[in-house]
Amino acid sequence: MTKATIFGRGNMGVAIADILVAGGVEVSHITTATESAIVDGDIVVLAVPYAALDGIVTKYGSQLGGRVVVDITNPLDFQTLKLVVPTDSSAAAKLSRQLPGSRVLKAFNTTFASALISKTVGPNPTTVLIAGDDADAKTALASAVIDGGIEAFDSGDLTAARELEAVGYLQLRLAMEHKISFTGGFSLTK
Ligand SMILES: NC(=O)c1ccc[n+]([C@@H]2O[C@H](COP(=O)([O-])OP(=O)(O)OC[C@H]3O[C@@H](n4cnc5c(N)ncnc54)[C@H](OP(=O)(O)O)[C@@H]3O)[C@@H](O)[C@H]2O)c1
Repeated sequence: MTKATIFGRGNMGVAIADILVAGGVEVSHITTATESAIVDGDIVVLAVPYAALDGIVTKYGSQLGGRVVVDITNPLDFQTLKLVVPTDSSAAAKLSRQLPGSRVLKAFNTTFASALISKTVGPNPTTVLIAGDDADAKTALASAVIDGGIEAFDSGDLTAARELEAVGYLQLRLAMEHKISFTGGFSLTK
């Protein structure tokens, strides 16, 4: 049975856990209340604020080698509502440089938690856009997501994380400006 370790038990941590559990994955969580933990997930999902990533790398990085590490963050400064990574890079690219032994993916940042819970965006099925350099890692995450009842789409190598973060940023900004709802958002039709 595939195992997943999810950092965070907030909106996204719980919604992603529900999808993975529905697909037969064994899920455990690490939270801020966790003193120290063994990371044993084949798939490790970092369902935490962008600002928490550096601390997790410092504390748990040595345990993340060889694992599929999924960055779901939208790296925003919530005061200025601007992206905090350079426009020619991404949070996922930075994480990948920090974790050279891990198979880093960008995923879930373009789906609101509500879309994971309802499994739909408007009339369409929810699709998790995935970017990363390791084909097997992308297949493993996509299979787990599809088994959990939603769609997955390979959006390219890790350089595409920059575009995924732009899409996630735009969707979030539109919702924060009340132009769309947090139960709406972008969907993908092939
Ligand atoms: N909400 C969405 O619809 C959505 C959509 C796409 C992407 N995202 C991204 O998903 C991430 C999580 O968002 P969210 O809405 O789930 O936030 P949230 O509800 O505030 O949950 C964040 C979780 O991260 C935990 N956490 C913080 N630092 C941690 C650490 N060092 N180790 C372990 N756990 C830690 C928090 O624990 P405490 O409560 O103990 O602080 C909390 O459980 C963010 O990066 C966000 O940009 C969110």
